[in-house]
Amino acid sequence: MASRPLSSSRMINMGVAAALVLSAAAMAAGLEMDFYSSTCPHVEQIVKEEMVEILKEAPTLAGPLLRLHFHDCFVRGCDGSVLLDSTPTSTAEKDATPNLTLRGFGSVQRIKDRLEKACPGTVSCADILALMARDAVVLARGPSWPVALGRRDGRVSIANETNQLPPPTANFTTLVQMFAAKGLGVKDLVVLSGGHTLGTAHCNLFSDRLYNFTGANNLADVDPALDATYLTRLRSRCRSLADNTTLNEMDPGSFLSFDASYYRLVAKRRGLFHSDAALLTDPATRAYVQRQATGLFADEFFRDFANSMVKMSTIDVLTGAQGEIRNKCYLVN
Ligand code: HEM
Repeated sequence: MASRPLSSSRMINMGVAAALVLSAAAMAAGLEMDFYSSTCPHVEQIVKEEMVEILKEAPTLAGPLLRLHFHDCFVRGCDGSVLLDSTPTSTAEKDATPNLTLRGFGSVQRIKDRLEKACPGTVSCADILALMARDAVVLARGPSWPVALGRRDGRVSIANETNQLPPPTANFTTLVQMFAAKGLGVKDLVVLSGGHTLGTAHCNLFSDRLYNFTGANNLADVDPALDATYLTRLRSRCRSLADNTTLNEMDPGSFLSFDASYYRLVAKRRGLFHSDAALLTDPATRAYVQRQATGLFADEFFRDFANSMVKMSTIDVLTGAQGEIRNKCYLVN
């Protein structure tokens, strides 16, 4: 995974190569760059304009909107299933434990409403999520990537299937298995974990590391992989195991901007989750974390993140006559 500094001609070649890889991945999934060129030619412009407004009104939504797309893609593929409401007969993904901390559903519907006015019945909620995630990262000063379009919306959302989402307590082996189940590799795991440069986390999702790591439930029962100074600081914010409301910036000081500083934290044993710390337990991911922690290779992280997002956003997509184009993102037609 290591590489040396790049000459400008090598960078151009890599840019061309990356574009080819991206379009190959998208084409293989049945998506197209110009999918809406005749049916909704301004779709990207409309999403971008709304995203600028949304993040102006609520800058903290950048992280949640990126996370929504991740949680959509890992369960039944990127098909908008995360957006569906529960029905009297079925509990939807949205109401399962890992998704109770998701935010931004209203913003997705806001953009859907605007697109329904511009091009009725045309743009899927799954495509909207993919575009919003990309624009959230760009507007947080992160990398951009091409989003191939043509995803269709699923008609099924099942709470139990959220067990395919990696929990914050996962160790390296579990993380690798859960990513592999979605066609993503170890490099995608370490690169996409960098999404934790944005946003916040509730105390109860990591407080076992502060108070109850082995189940002994006393002040000595801490995760030895957590930096001692950081432990004290986190304990002063998260006062007990019961605290499920206090929010913590995952990349303190720059949680609204997309940068490589997540890796500096992880390298200092200050990753918030066990899953972040787990990246130091494998030689290849540890090398990536340490290289990025130098702060000298952010351009490489940006390129890697863009490539891995393109892969993630094509997981098990529905295309052609599969699924539907929902009228409302929270309801099947
Ligand atoms: C590697 C496995 C992963 C685990 C175990 C994990 C777990 C979590 C957890 C527990 C939270 C805290 C939610 C809360 O308390 O509100 C969180 C937040 C977040 N995650 Fe992950 N995540 C993983 C991968 C990813 C990936 C691949 C992305 C995107 C590329 C991502 C993006 C985010 C963002 C942006 C937030 C902040 C959300 C907010 O501000 O509300 N995560 N993650």
